[in-house]
Formats: sequence, C-alpha cells, structure tokens
Amino acid sequence: MRHILVMNPKGGCGKSTVATNLASWYATRGRPVALADFDPQRSSLDWAGLRPADAPPITAVAGFEDGLRGVPRSADVVVIDAPARAHGRELNELVRRAETVLVPVLPSAIDMRAAANFITELLEVGRVARQQAKIAVIANRIKEHTVSFDELDAFLRKLGVPYVATLRDAQNYVRAYARGLGVFELPPYLAWQDWEQWAPLTDWLDSAASRP
Ligand SMILES: Nc1ncnc2c1ncn2[C@@H]1O[C@H](COP(=O)(O)OP(=O)(O)OP(=O)(O)O)[C@@H](O)[C@H]1O
Ligand SMILES: [Mg+2]
Repeated sequence: MRHILVMNPKGGCGKSTVATNLASWYATRGRPVALADFDPQRSSLDWAGLRPADAPPITAVAGFEDGLRGVPRSADVVVIDAPARAHGRELNELVRRAETVLVPVLPSAIDMRAAANFITELLEVGRVARQQAKIAVIANRIKEHTVSFDELDAFLRKLGVPYVATLRDAQNYVRAYARGLGVFELPPYLAWQDWEQWAPLTDWLDSAASRP
C-alpha cells in the first residue's frame, strides 16, 4: 500500500485541495484509494461527504481520530491530508506513515519563507534523511506572467528537492471541491489546462523517483 502525505504547516497553501484532487485522480483511474484526513477541520472528509453516489469511489477516513486504522486492506493508495501547524513530534508521526511527501507552496513572500524553514525541518526528519520518504514541492495558485509567480518559481528551483508541478489559481478547484469532485471529473473544455498541469505530478508519482 502506497502512502502519499500532503503537508505544509502553513495554513491555506492547498493541502486539502491537492489531497482531494489526487484522491480523485486515482479513483478516476480505477485505483482503490483511501483519503485519510488528519485535520480535525475535516476539509477532506467534508469533501468526500459531498461526493456524488455515482462518482468513482474513495474511502474517506478520519485520521485525526483513528490514524490509518479505518483504511481498508484493499486500498492500494492512501492520500493523507495533514493539518496546518504540524511541527516536531506531530510532523515526525505523520512522515512515519508515508513513502512520499508533497508540499504545496503559494506565491507569496510569507509562504516561501515558511516553506524554506519547513523543508529544512523536513529534510532533517530521519525517514527523509535516510531516503525512506521522498519529497517534492508544488507551486499552487499561481498566476502566470506575474512577478510573484516568477519569484516562487525561482525559489522552488533552488530548493534542491524535486519541483514537480505548477497549479494555476482557478475557480475549477473551488467549484470541484463544492461538488465533492476533483478537476479530473470536470468536463475537458473547462479543465484541460488543469489536467495538463497535473500530468508532471502524476508522472512523478508513477516514477521510481517518488518512492524509497
Ligand atoms: N489552485 C487553486 N486555485 C484556486 N483556489 C485554490 C487553489 N488551491 C487552493 N485554493 C483555495 O484556497 C483555500 C485554501 O486551500 P486548502 O483548504 O486546500 O488549503 P489547506 O492547506 O488545506 O488549508 P489548511 O491549512 O487550513 O488545512 C481554499 O478556499 C481553496 O479552495
Ligand atoms: Mg486543509
């Protein structure tokens, strides 16, 4: 069973958005997927509750209550949505459960500074240092041709960890969340740009580079 943790202690950077869309991506590919919400704010659980009955199934579990105990044995991928402000022991506990860690970062000076500190902390976690967990960063809510995107892009390129996707700021994410869907479940004429932007991320996740 593969565990993909979406984490960044900075609030509002897109952890739940990336986690729910990733779960939707696996589900639409017919993969048995579980979505474990470790945030008592329940963004991922609430999203799963909004999911239409005829959408490809995703098993949602309340990780903040029961850890991964509710994940069915049949699941072959578990996407873990981490809470904001996870540092120290809590961070170690979460990383202990994952082979892959995705870190979304917003194009803002405050978020970049926080991300730099977090990546430093993450690289010191034993599992990451021993290459038992692989990490990658994602630029999220980008607006092309803006100075703030150029700055984030340059910052992420220099971090020294795989920089695997740039996701645009799009109402598709807001609308899809409200319907319990991922952007992969929106019609192509609306979401083709988002699909293109996710391809490098899902390709990386399919590659050996993203696993220990
Ligand atoms: N690419 C995007 N385009 C447009 N809106 C986005 C995008 N990514 C995230 N958002 C919006 O930004 C807000 C924060 O996103 P999200 O809840 O995914 O962040 P989070 O890191 O899980 O937050 P928290 O730290 O509170 O758990 C939400 O309103 C979400 O819809
Ligand atoms: Mg969240």
